[in-house]
Amino acid sequence: MGSGSGSELIFRGHETQPVNDEYSPKPNKPWLSVTRPIRYLLREQRLLFILIGVAIATVFFALLPSSPSSSSSSSYDPLPIPYLEQESTRWVQKARHMVGVHSVGKIPLGIKRKGLRIVVTGGAGFVGSHLVDRLIARGDSVIVVDNFFTGRKENVMHHFGNPRFELIRHDVVEPLLLEVDQIYHLACPASPVHYKFNPTNVVGTLNMLGLAKRVGARFLLTSTSEVYGDPLEHPQKETYWGNVNPIGVRSCYDEGKRTAETLTMDYHRGASVEVRIARIFNTYGPRMCLDDGRVVSNFVAQALRKEPLTVYGDGKQTRSFQYVSDLVEGLMRLMEGEHVGPFNLGNPGEFTMLELAKVVQETIDPDAKIEYRPNTEDDPHKRKPDISKAKEQLGWEPKVDLRKGLPLMVSDFRQRIFGDHKEGAQAAFA
Ligand SMILES: NC(=O)c1ccc[n+]([C@@H]2O[C@H](COP(=O)([O-])OP(=O)(O)OC[C@H]3O[C@@H](n4cnc5c(N)ncnc54)[C@H](O)[C@@H]3O)[C@@H](O)[C@H]2O)c1
Repeated sequence: MGSGSGSELIFRGHETQPVNDEYSPKPNKPWLSVTRPIRYLLREQRLLFILIGVAIATVFFALLPSSPSSSSSSSYDPLPIPYLEQESTRWVQKARHMVGVHSVGKIPLGIKRKGLRIVVTGGAGFVGSHLVDRLIARGDSVIVVDNFFTGRKENVMHHFGNPRFELIRHDVVEPLLLEVDQIYHLACPASPVHYKFNPTNVVGTLNMLGLAKRVGARFLLTSTSEVYGDPLEHPQKETYWGNVNPIGVRSCYDEGKRTAETLTMDYHRGASVEVRIARIFNTYGPRMCLDDGRVVSNFVAQALRKEPLTVYGDGKQTRSFQYVSDLVEGLMRLMEGEHVGPFNLGNPGEFTMLELAKVVQETIDPDAKIEYRPNTEDDPHKRKPDISKAKEQLGWEPKVDLRKGLPLMVSDFRQRIFGDHKEGAQAAFA
């Protein structure tokens, strides 16, 4: 009976419950949604891994620069590039280039940079070929574009067979499409004997800027101290606007480079192309053209051939002479740094033409005669760079003085004038 009534009671109980076939969600327990992942993390030790990950990321980003800056910024970065050749530095610079951050900072240890693809227009010329040597040595892939107007295959043939080197015979006044990260634009009929109409400075520069815009490459223009003309300010600072005759015999070069600077800045401002401008002062060294009318190469070739050294005017006009390895270092620092420029790159040591002739006599032939000729039109009286901006913002200054650099050039010229061309082409840096 007792059990029967119990079952009855149970049954009744069921009967009294409403029958519900529908899905009823579990009761809401808000605390569960918080504690469940925590319990899961603790149980599986996932928390430990996450904390380690956060710590690694924090260390990584702490080593990268903290304040990104725009490429057009000209503010001073107190961190100079400590050593351009550091593989890891360049890897980080490349990464910054890709994300639009160009300030110089510390490098995560153990990270190796991938080589850049770089075009050097005019790379078979004097300065260009030395630049190519440095870029190849650094691990980059280099494409030289040159029409051999004044350049020579011999200047770069020691790279033939290197898979990271290519040589294209091409005139930059014609457009060209190449996938590259950086463009060093050196192509130009640069020596005084070629001061006549040539569209390279204008049309060639326009084409290379167009290429930079199209492929998103950084563009460096090698301008010249000639943009200061016959300067009324001495020494010349980058802020000086120059004193140039627009219709003189040298104007095609002076004004051509001034136009090239204008185009470069217009592409920078108007099309956001990353640009750099170097104003190069007289540079000398191995692989210079032998007879191109530049004063150092003239004097050296004349002294070696036992000809008189030709001095134009009274020989009191001054110039400064920079050894080519110093210039190449400056160009690379400028390209890798964050400042647009323009930057004067030159050696502030000032020499009159007669003093230069004396150094050449001391180095090659003390008996070399001097012959005076009438001065050329619009020849600048004084030329000396103020390089404080490059010192401060690029951490750069020349290291090789004339008495140290000239013998290196002389041995190259001697080999090219009197014999073995191959050795001359590979003459080493100081
Ligand atoms: N060396 C200096 O003292 C000095 C001074 C100021 C500026 N610069 C500038 O530096 C750059 C290099 O000068 P450099 O002394 O090596 O002269 P360079 O004559 O030895 O080199 C110029 C190179 O450009 C090439 N070139 C000329 N026109 C070209 C064209 N249309 N297409 C393709 N290639 C062309 C030439 O064949 C040559 O290889 C030039 O832009 C020059 O204006 C040089």
